Amino acid sequence: MITLMYISCTQDRPRAANAHVADELQAGLEAIDPWISPKFLYDALGSKLFEAICELPEYYPTRTEAAIFARHGAEIARVAGSGATLIDLGAGNCAKAASLFPLLAPSQYVAVDISAEFLCDSLERLRQRFPHIAMEGLGMDFSNRFELPEQVGSERRLFFYPGSSIGNFTPEEAQGFLRRLRAQCGPDGGVLLGVDLAKDKDVLDAAYDDALGVTGAFNLNVLRHVNRLIDADFDIRAWRHHGFYNPARGRVEMHLEAVHRQEVQWKGGARVFEAGDTIHTENSYKYQQADAIALLERSGFEATRVWTDPQRWFAVIHAQAIG
Ligand code: AVI
Repeated sequence: MITLMYISCTQDRPRAANAHVADELQAGLEAIDPWISPKFLYDALGSKLFEAICELPEYYPTRTEAAIFARHGAEIARVAGSGATLIDLGAGNCAKAASLFPLLAPSQYVAVDISAEFLCDSLERLRQRFPHIAMEGLGMDFSNRFELPEQVGSERRLFFYPGSSIGNFTPEEAQGFLRRLRAQCGPDGGVLLGVDLAKDKDVLDAAYDDALGVTGAFNLNVLRHVNRLIDADFDIRAWRHHGFYNPARGRVEMHLEAVHRQEVQWKGGARVFEAGDTIHTENSYKYQQADAIALLERSGFEATRVWTDPQRWFAVIHAQAIG
């Protein structure tokens, strides 16, 4: 039997997390090299902090991608086609998709995000601005499995995955994820993908360790979220943010470092962290354009068009389902 794991903004209000969440968090916290999945960065406050990151001068991806949409929007809409079922993955405040509504004129807009409460609030505001567009909000974790409920139109599905969130998967995970999209796409579907391209370490280090400390707050907030989810007792003041580019691995990494020795307890477990111990909280892979296209091709899509900015810092790729 297939169980649908989602919260619909129209039917339910957001509920608490399920048992898989506790198992996943516990496994990560007990690992030799402890980790917390980046999806837990996004509770209601985390989503707001991420919105603030997108306003930072150091965080170039959002404005660079927005400039690509502003400059090439008409052509993007021509290539992607209007009147599609637009499925916005990791929709957050829905602003990026909304900026394309006048050009894409979707027949249905489906916003999907793990941060259900934040998503439903954003969608409520969007419904007032675009009352003529049918909208659906789904609070769900689409990182490991992905099945869309029946209220999502099956005609001409266009998956919108902007902001380079694809970079938060390893390349192997990204391929699995894109294959799942392909399976939900039908022969007439496609994907509009934002990809952050490899660039100088200085630019990347600043983008993930900004002067105001907003990214630090975003990273540390994951511990507050974990405290709530599994009744843990992380002391936020006892941890420090690190965000830096690792050129050998082609990715930015975020970690939290224990400032002093401490024992952390949670429902079902405990661990002592020595001063200097770290918890890995996020990877953000930076692609060569050709590698991103090859990844799409290995996943059942064919790139039809790529748009970039003048510095070639970011790429928006449209790809059509094949085979
Ligand atoms: C959502 N994602 C694409 C962001 C990124 O750049 O990897 C998350 C983020 N982490 C730190 N700053 C922003």
